[in-house]
Amino acid sequence: GELPSKLGTTGAVAVKLAGIQNQTGSPSRMTRVLTGIKTSGTPHLGNYVGAVRPAIAASHAPDVESFYFLADLHSLVNVQDASRVQRSTLEIAATWLAAGLQPDKVWFYRQSDIPEISELNWFLTCVAGKGVLNRAHAYKASVDRNRADGEDDDSGISAGLFMYPVLMSADILLFNANKVPVGRDQVQHIEMARDFAQRFNHLFGGEYFVLPEAAIEDNVATLPGLDGRKMSKSYDNTIPLFAPRAEMKKLIASIVTDSRAPGEAKQVEGSHVFQLYQAFASADETAQMQLAFAEGIGWGDAKQKLFERIDAEVAPMREHYEALMAKPAEIEAILRDGAQRLRAKYATPFLAELRHAVGLRDLSYKPAMESAAGSKAALPLFKQYRDTDNRFYFKLMDGEGRLLVQSNGFDSPKDAGQLIAVLKRGERADAIETPEINVLVPVDDVLAALAQLREAEA
Ligand code: TRP
Repeated sequence: GELPSKLGTTGAVAVKLAGIQNQTGSPSRMTRVLTGIKTSGTPHLGNYVGAVRPAIAASHAPDVESFYFLADLHSLVNVQDASRVQRSTLEIAATWLAAGLQPDKVWFYRQSDIPEISELNWFLTCVAGKGVLNRAHAYKASVDRNRADGEDDDSGISAGLFMYPVLMSADILLFNANKVPVGRDQVQHIEMARDFAQRFNHLFGGEYFVLPEAAIEDNVATLPGLDGRKMSKSYDNTIPLFAPRAEMKKLIASIVTDSRAPGEAKQVEGSHVFQLYQAFASADETAQMQLAFAEGIGWGDAKQKLFERIDAEVAPMREHYEALMAKPAEIEAILRDGAQRLRAKYATPFLAELRHAVGLRDLSYKPAMESAAGSKAALPLFKQYRDTDNRFYFKLMDGEGRLLVQSNGFDSPKDAGQLIAVLKRGERADAIETPEINVLVPVDDVLAALAQLREAEA
């Protein structure tokens, strides 16, 4: 008799299977969209319009699983001031939450809370071509500056700056993200992530990593800053998103304009005041402002209207922001909770698979190649059967006949077969966490057996 000791209830098998399949990389898997936010500096209106607002809108799309994380490890490349790192992480987390990010609907976490990212960073470091990294734009720009200044090529350049694209690849590949929304300046980094993923897959003989794609954000507005150049911390021309009202008003009043007097018609093209207004206003409001420009609104009045329009959108968020900033422990708890759930669901099991793939594995494990060369008997085996309770079961045994996995009872052989298929495809390590099966050996051994089967059937 093959009667398992634990008989499961399987009324909901079909439903559960559907759930598993959605997480396994089968065609029905949701698209994973991943965004990293560097924790340097205080968020300004340009960040809000160019990144925060569109990203939060995108997170409501159906069939998308969104990942938003604070790239605090990356911030260490340019910020070596502990309290600035801490303050910026707090401000940026509070900004995203105040702007409406829902941490129960999307993955929201802090990079440094996921140690698997750092471990994968090393695996990828060891497959990344140094020559590829030499060609990174940001690194090359630093070298060029050094040459122009007559310094050594690598003067003042840390290895962290050089390795930046590898860490970014680890962020993306650990979660097998399909799409990474980025500005043009980051596209090269996504190409590198694809390159490292491909190399890893090739070297270790499996489809471990999905190749990510850059989703280039060309149609989001870039805002002009106070001086008319692109609003950017490095130009010192920003309007902080949550500046107190009085300060916001003063900053808006200081935006450069031409010298036309009230009553004189004004051009909307090239007007920074108008561009900023447009980024916050509805189509109707924008058309009205255009009319007001033609009719010669004074710059003082136009700026007052701009201030009021921005404040209408920002004021409710500012209140939320200030409440959050007053309770950093709550933000800390939200971030930790996100990381903990994400590790359990994806990062930890996937990294176990990757450790095995590169050879950091149980010393008693026998790789397929070295055991009874190619003979069928050495392969792991799924065995399906019907038991005396008239229910359908399967088990997975390794080449030596050791029982690795014992399923619970299913109502139909089809249900059992579907779960076997999911396990075999193995795009997601977490499929083996389903309560429908009992894993009787270390998870690594099961993953290894599944990988061995896949290899043999490929
Ligand atoms: N390099 C990105 C930036 O400067 C931030 C970042 C870090 C990121 N890791 C990422 C973006 C992963 C997308 C995906 O803006």
